[in-house]
Amino acid sequence: MKSILSAFGLILFGLLMGVGVMRYASTEQALRRQVSETAPRPERATDGRLALYLTADERAHVSAEMLQFLQGVQTISAAVSDEDRETIQATADNLRRGNGQGMGVQMKAPDGFRQIGQSLRQEFGSIADMSLTSDMTDIQQSLSDAMTNCVACHGTYTVVEVSD
Ligand code: HEC
Repeated sequence: MKSILSAFGLILFGLLMGVGVMRYASTEQALRRQVSETAPRPERATDGRLALYLTADERAHVSAEMLQFLQGVQTISAAVSDEDRETIQATADNLRRGNGQGMGVQMKAPDGFRQIGQSLRQEFGSIADMSLTSDMTDIQQSLSDAMTNCVACHGTYTVVEVSD
């Protein structure tokens, strides 16, 4: 009788412990989730550059525009050596409208990022404006100036993809 009682007691004790551990674990999990939802995202990515947190869609938008930038600067560079003013004008005019930032990116991006994008746009604008009349060496110089913005932005910011 005594051993049945103590076996029963042991089972009861085991059950209570089990419930306790499970409750503890689920509270722990809930707390952890809450922390990861509310914790501020780190300012810098692992490589030390400032992190720009974008969704896959926003990132794809940036990438598509970037590839246009790369193509555009190549086209302008070739057109400068061919002294093809019309191509310089059309390409620079096209690029002055884009800055790699859709609405979503604009809202999330830090001021510095927006400013570099803006400055790039202005440089393309002045290349378009000077394309039909200026010396080719001045246009070449402006293209090089414009590209300092590519270098500045890539050196400072990097994208970290997030789900929302
Ligand atoms: C205001 C910031 C900014 C400026 C200015 C900028 N970029 Fe980018 N660029 C980015 C970011 C951010 C990425 C990274 C996108 C990613 O990680 O998916 C990128 C990515 C790229 C890529 C890789 C695209 C891909 O996904 O294959 C190329 C090429 C590129 N940029 C070219 C340029 C060129 C050329 C210029 C200048 C004419 C330029 N960028 C100016 C921010 C900028």
